Amino acid sequence: MPTYPRIASLKTFDDFQSRLRELELQLPADEVVESGPASPLAQSGQVGELTIGNRFCILPMEGWDGTKDGKPTDLTRRRWKNFGISGAKLMWGGEAVAVRHDGRANPNQLCLTENNLSEIGGLRELLIAAHAERFGNTDDLVVGLQLTHSGRFARPNEKAKAEPRAAQRNPALDPRLNINDDSGVMTDDELKSLIDDFVVASVRAAKLGYQFVDVKHCHGYLGHELLSGVDRRGEFGGSFENRTRFLREIVAGIRAEAPELELGVRLSIYDFLPYRKSESGVGEPDPAGDPRLVFGSNSRGDGVELSEPIRFLDLMQSLGMKLICTTAGSPYYTPHLQRPAFFPPSDGYQPPEAPLIGVDRQIEATAELKKRFPAMFVVGSGYTYLQDWLPNVAQAVIRNGWADSIGLGRMVLSYPDLPADVLEGTQLARKKVCRTFSDCTTAPRKGIISGCYPLDPFYKNLPERKELLALKKE
Ligand SMILES: Cc1cc2nc3c(=O)[nH]c(=O)nc-3n(C[C@H](O)[C@H](O)[C@H](O)COP(=O)(O)O)c2cc1C
Ligand code: SF4
Repeated sequence: MPTYPRIASLKTFDDFQSRLRELELQLPADEVVESGPASPLAQSGQVGELTIGNRFCILPMEGWDGTKDGKPTDLTRRRWKNFGISGAKLMWGGEAVAVRHDGRANPNQLCLTENNLSEIGGLRELLIAAHAERFGNTDDLVVGLQLTHSGRFARPNEKAKAEPRAAQRNPALDPRLNINDDSGVMTDDELKSLIDDFVVASVRAAKLGYQFVDVKHCHGYLGHELLSGVDRRGEFGGSFENRTRFLREIVAGIRAEAPELELGVRLSIYDFLPYRKSESGVGEPDPAGDPRLVFGSNSRGDGVELSEPIRFLDLMQSLGMKLICTTAGSPYYTPHLQRPAFFPPSDGYQPPEAPLIGVDRQIEATAELKKRFPAMFVVGSGYTYLQDWLPNVAQAVIRNGWADSIGLGRMVLSYPDLPADVLEGTQLARKKVCRTFSDCTTAPRKGIISGCYPLDPFYKNLPERKELLALKKE
């Protein structure tokens, strides 16, 4: 099995650079990270009427810790409060919030029903209050909400029971979710009523004060799967026009009912054939995979091909959408593309490539899109694996105009105020740097709430930690 040097072992900037050279990666990195108001990462950005006070963004991350009826709990509130004290000025959606019950990815996912309005609005207020207490000004803080339907990966009622509402049949993924016939596929009429639900949820989000909504199109969930629905018949499948009808109709509905709301999309800008664990434990493409059903890949399903994603961004721009957050693949079947990690989640596979290659792939593909769409505000993802070198790469990416904002996922679970430390010039607290142990992904796969069990003292002391350790040993 291949082994890769740990990032923590790359002690100097030269060590990091020589590792990049060894892998023949062109990833930009600055030796000196600046701090203070004149530094590249401290510059503000503009999206329509919205001013975003710096170049750090918190990516959406759920904790599998809502109530059965889709309300937040104290654990959810703790996470949103941490997002508020991070120092980042853009909140990309907080976490995935289902627009209706059957679209929940797990029975503890938040759901934006009429009954839950004050609690879901309360998350935003809490985040803003925490930000105000630590940083004073919130005029340049922008908070959006990520709206989702989990489609093929819906599990609304029981953690162990998949209740898929897929966009189309898929020979590699159907057996993994017990889809044996077309009853697991959404009909056109169901999609039409779902479009109305997205519009209703967006109007609710606007009334609660969220400044934008993300019409989620990533990670294998419904919006994303529709984009590769070449075999789907009817109004939502086949041609590019049909495959993007879902987005167009949601946007038209929101424009009519909440014209002040900014709109964005979190998009898996590429994907590969679904992976599976080989006999050696290393990930390999599933031979049942069909490359025609992979959005943003080449004809073999094993490389990035951005022509359709570019058409998608063109469409977004023509609809007046200014915000895009790039990501890749899916945590279910291509986790090495989506969240490069040294230690895979328990149901995953050993990395089939050096994780730095996965980081570089996301950053380079994002840069290609930013070059083609300079007027859009582009947020990148997948930086956490850079660990101690994250600020060096982040600054260089912003300086070179490869993205407008650096999205942070796992890093803020272990080290919530990393952006503030970078901007204030405080030396990084190495003990808090995420080492990509993947417990925050493994825990929910085992039915346990998500959190940073290895590094966050709060989760370290929960009884769930022992439970997780025991389950990992099994
Ligand atoms: C525990 C956990 C929960 C996540 N939940 C969401 C989510 O609700 N919506 C989403 O778009 N991405 C979600 N993601 C993906 C992250 O937003 C991000 O794309 C990914 O972790 C890679 O970024 P990173 O390298 O900074 O971690 C989640 C990731 C983790 C680890
Ligand atoms: S559990 Fe903590 S250290 Fe491990 S990947 Fe998640 S955030 Fe990082």
